[in-house]
Amino acid sequence: MSKIIKIFDTTLRDGEQTPGVNLNIQEKLEIARQLEKLGVDVIEAGFAIASPGDFEAVQAVATELKNVTVASLCRAVEKDIDRAWEAVKNAVSPRIHTFIATSDIHMQHKLKMSEDAVLERAVAMVKYAKRYCSDIEFSAEDAGRSRPEFLYKIFEAVIAAGATCINIPDTVGYTAPKEFGGLIKGVMENVKNIENTDVSVHCHNDLGMAVANTLAAIENGATQVECTINGLGERAGNAALEEIVMALTTRKNYYNVQHNIDTTQISRTSKLVTSLTGVQVQPNKAVVGANAFAHESGIHQHGVLSEKSTYEIMTPESVGLSQNKMVLGKLSGRHAFEDKLKDMGYTLEQDAINKAFEKFKELADKKKVVLDDDIHVLVEERVSQIPEIYQLKSFQTNSGNKVIATAMVELTKEDQTVTEAATGDGPIDAAFNAIERAVGIEIKLADYNLRAVTGGKDALGEVSVKIAKEDKTFMGRGVSTDIIEASVKAYLNAINRMLSEIA
Ligand code: KIV
Ligand code: ZN
Repeated sequence: MSKIIKIFDTTLRDGEQTPGVNLNIQEKLEIARQLEKLGVDVIEAGFAIASPGDFEAVQAVATELKNVTVASLCRAVEKDIDRAWEAVKNAVSPRIHTFIATSDIHMQHKLKMSEDAVLERAVAMVKYAKRYCSDIEFSAEDAGRSRPEFLYKIFEAVIAAGATCINIPDTVGYTAPKEFGGLIKGVMENVKNIENTDVSVHCHNDLGMAVANTLAAIENGATQVECTINGLGERAGNAALEEIVMALTTRKNYYNVQHNIDTTQISRTSKLVTSLTGVQVQPNKAVVGANAFAHESGIHQHGVLSEKSTYEIMTPESVGLSQNKMVLGKLSGRHAFEDKLKDMGYTLEQDAINKAFEKFKELADKKKVVLDDDIHVLVEERVSQIPEIYQLKSFQTNSGNKVIATAMVELTKEDQTVTEAATGDGPIDAAFNAIERAVGIEIKLADYNLRAVTGGKDALGEVSVKIAKEDKTFMGRGVSTDIIEASVKAYLNAINRMLSEIA
C-alpha cells in the first residue's frame, strides 16, 4: 500500500498572518470544524502566546474538535511553550510546535546566536515541551537558506530529545523545486534517527513555487505537508492545500501516495475561508478559482461536450462543485429546504436552520430560482455572529449621471433610531457617508469588493469591505440582490465588528 501523506493545515495561524485578515473566535471555530470535515490530519489553530484572542481561539478549537490533532505554534522559549500547552492540553490529540531559526542570516541578524547556542536551545526546548506533550514538532525556520550540514545536526539532536516531527520550512519562498527536493533527500539520508519521525515541509510562495516545492519534497520522502486553504499566508502566502491535494489525487499514477482528504469538501472550505477572511480568490486560481472548470473557447466546449476528459483532468464534482442546477423556488417548503441543506453537507442547529429558511424565503421572493451557491452564502452569513450594535432600519439613495448622489439611512441602536443623510461620489459612497454620520465615528474604507454569487440579472451580490481604525482593520460582509443594500449591510457589519472588538 502506498504511504499516507499527512496534511497539516495552518490557515488559522500562517493564513491568518495574511495582511488585513483578522478572524474572531467564532469564525476560527467555524473554519476549524470545516477543516475537520475536509479531513486534515493536523490543524495549527494559532500562536497561543501572540495575544489573548489567539490563545482563546486555540483553546476553543482544541477543546471542541475530536478527530484531528490540534497544534499551537510557539518560539523555542519556555514561556511560549507553557502558553502553547495551556491552549492545546484539552485536545484529544494535542501537539506543541516549536521553532527557532537556523539560517546564518537569521541567526546572525535576528537571534544574534551562534549555531551551537541555537542547537543547545532547540534541544533544551524540545525536552521542556516533551514534559507536557508526547507529540512535538520542531521547525528549523528559514531551513531553505540554512546550511544543510547544520540542519542534519540539529534535526538529529532534537529527534534524540523527543521531537516526533521535524519541519523544513522554506520560510521566504526562495528555493527551486529540484533544489528543495534535494534538501529533503539530504535530510532523509544524513539524519541517522529519521525513520521514526514525520518529515514535514512548509513552503512559502514568494516566487510562485510553494506547491511545486512541496510536491518535490513528497517525491523525496516528506511525510507531512503544511499548507493553507486558498494559499493564504504571510506575503505571497503558503502552499495551497487544494492544489497539493488535487495534484496528489489527479496524478496518483505519478506520485503514488495517499491522503485523508475528502476532496468533495474542498470547494465549500475554500468559499467559507473566502467569505470569512474577505480575501477573494483570483478567477483563474487552480482548483478553486471561478474559472477553474469553465470552458470558454468553442473548440474546448465542443471537446468537453463530446467527451469531458478532452479538456478536464478532474471533475468539478470531485472538488464538491455542484452543477448549480435550479434547486428550490418560492413554493419550496421547509422540508425541501432542510433536505437540501443536508444534501449540501450542512448540519445546523434548529435555530440556524430557521434563520436560513427565513432568508431563503425572502430571497426566493426576489429571485426566480435559488441555486446551491445562493444557499451557501445565506447559510454562511450566520457564521460571524457579530453583535448587531447598529441595525439597518431603512435606506434610500438617489443618483444619476447629472445629479450629485445622495443617501439617507435610518439605523437603530438599542431602542433609538438615528437618521442621517449625506452626499457622495455615487450612491454607495453617499450611503457610507450617511452611516458614518449616524454612528459619529470617522472611518477609513480600506477595501471594497463586490462579486455576483451566481449568474443572471437577479444574482445575489456579495460585498466585503475592510475598514481601518488606527492600525487595525475590520472586515464586514453583506449579501442582497440589491448591491447598494449589500454594501450598506457590509459596512455596518464591519462597524459593528469594530465596535464590539474595541469595546
Ligand atoms: O514560515 C515559517 O518558517 C513558519 C514557521 C514558524 C513554521 O511559519
Ligand atoms: Zn510560514
